[in-house]
Amino acid sequence: MALIARLQETARAARTHGFGAALAALVLGPTQYRAFEMARVVEPMLEAPPDRSVLSPLERGFATCSDIYAHLPTLYRITRDRNLRRVLELGTRTGESTVALLSAAREIGGHVTSVDLEPCPDAEARVRGAGLEAFWTFLRADDLALDWEEPIDHLFIDTSHEYDHTVQELRRFEPLVSPAGVITMHDTTSRPEVWRAIEDHFRGRRDARIFRYYHNNGLALIERAKSKD
Ligand SMILES: C[S@@+](CC[C@H](N)C(=O)[O-])C[C@H]1O[C@@H](n2cnc3c(N)ncnc32)[C@H](O)[C@@H]1O
Repeated sequence: MALIARLQETARAARTHGFGAALAALVLGPTQYRAFEMARVVEPMLEAPPDRSVLSPLERGFATCSDIYAHLPTLYRITRDRNLRRVLELGTRTGESTVALLSAAREIGGHVTSVDLEPCPDAEARVRGAGLEAFWTFLRADDLALDWEEPIDHLFIDTSHEYDHTVQELRRFEPLVSPAGVITMHDTTSRPEVWRAIEDHFRGRRDARIFRYYHNNGLALIERAKSKD
């Protein structure tokens, strides 16, 4: 059966895209070949990236395919447009999300505190390169061990993606989120345990409204429900 499916996919690829595609389909098999083919349709920037030299650091993040790039405009726009000045980012790594959040913070007079278990030299270089260091504090720490009681306007969570840890993060930091504040959480599609943690934490809560983006590993946007919601 698997061989027949592979040959059928190879014949289809040959008909629609020619010899090279047929070879790719034969080598990759139907599932991986379709993903490969679809990637070119969903994101043509993979094959034809824009000229980076004319882009700002923020736009470079938007235009460079990564595990989170398609959510960076959302992180930037909600922070800026809702005037979310006190930002706590849990999970910093290479600083993709950090630059989006910081770019918004610069425009609204805000500040981003980013936390990571590991040193994040790539994020530091990225922030410096974008001239955003005046708006940033980086803390190397286990987020659950943080001595943090400050109000938060935008809580962004992108850390271990483990169920227990994610629930604990929500229990620890959600009470500090201001009434007009938001929580965003990455990897809600690729890591179902993150979505399960969100569902369990907010189950039965009429004061929370959750919007789920499925693409690019997933993002949850959680905000307080107004009484008429
Ligand atoms: C997916 S990466 C974050 C990506 C980042 N948001 C970006 O856009 O580049 C997850 C990060 O969470 C960090 N991390 C995992 N568990 C953590 C914890 N308990 N406290 C703080 N950081 C943690 C990891 O070290 C890793 O750098």
